[in-house]
Amino acid sequence: MDEEQTLLAKVAEVRPLSVLDVGCGDGRIPSLYAAPEVVCIDSSEASVEAAARRGLDARLADAQDLPFPDASFDVVTCNHTLYHVADREQALAEIARVLRPSGRFAGIYNTPAHLREVWEAVGAVWARDSFDSENGLPLLQRQFSRVERLIRGGTVMWLDAADLQAYLDAYRELLGVLHAPEGPYPFVATRAKCIFVAEAA
Ligand SMILES: C[S@@+](CC[C@H](N)C(=O)[O-])C[C@H]1O[C@@H](n2cnc3c(N)ncnc32)[C@H](O)[C@@H]1O
Repeated sequence: MDEEQTLLAKVAEVRPLSVLDVGCGDGRIPSLYAAPEVVCIDSSEASVEAAARRGLDARLADAQDLPFPDASFDVVTCNHTLYHVADREQALAEIARVLRPSGRFAGIYNTPAHLREVWEAVGAVWARDSFDSENGLPLLQRQFSRVERLIRGGTVMWLDAADLQAYLDAYRELLGVLHAPEGPYPFVATRAKCIFVAEAA
């Protein structure tokens, strides 16, 4: 996907010796990082186990209290995770603390346009305080200098209602039970992702 290619390029650009991925999930994205040391953390044991199965150095930890000394990493990434964290400012302060001076932060998040057609069709409303390309920007600017937003995307298509229902079911915990619209299918929606790239002060 375009946004992941851009993220990988932004990580590789600074030729990091050490990268920390915060909220690694199953470790798929950090497993693609080109660096001698890649460390992952996640607050879910199942995620840590899944990332470890990929051969990653994965540890159980909270983004709001990172178990690393100051200035430990050349790059810190945090993809699709800050909207799950209760105290985003604290998590970003922790990320800035463990980055070395002039180190790089990068993270993939949604723009408000992302899958707009789907959420409108199913009547779902994202929490107003969600971390996205717009409301995430001022939070990042408080911790980092030179915050850049790169927009990538295109379209996404679900071939039938069962296909879209399976996608919606993955959001049950966040948004409640959602029912796939009756059509028309294929259902086409906008993909619009943002890659934040920021520099530690
Ligand atoms: C939507 S998944 C994103 C996974 C991965 N970064 C990706 O982009 O594919 C969010 C992840 O953040 C983790 N997470 C949520 N709150 C967290 C916290 N406070 N500290 C660390 N990880 C957290 C979840 O367990 C989950 O694995």
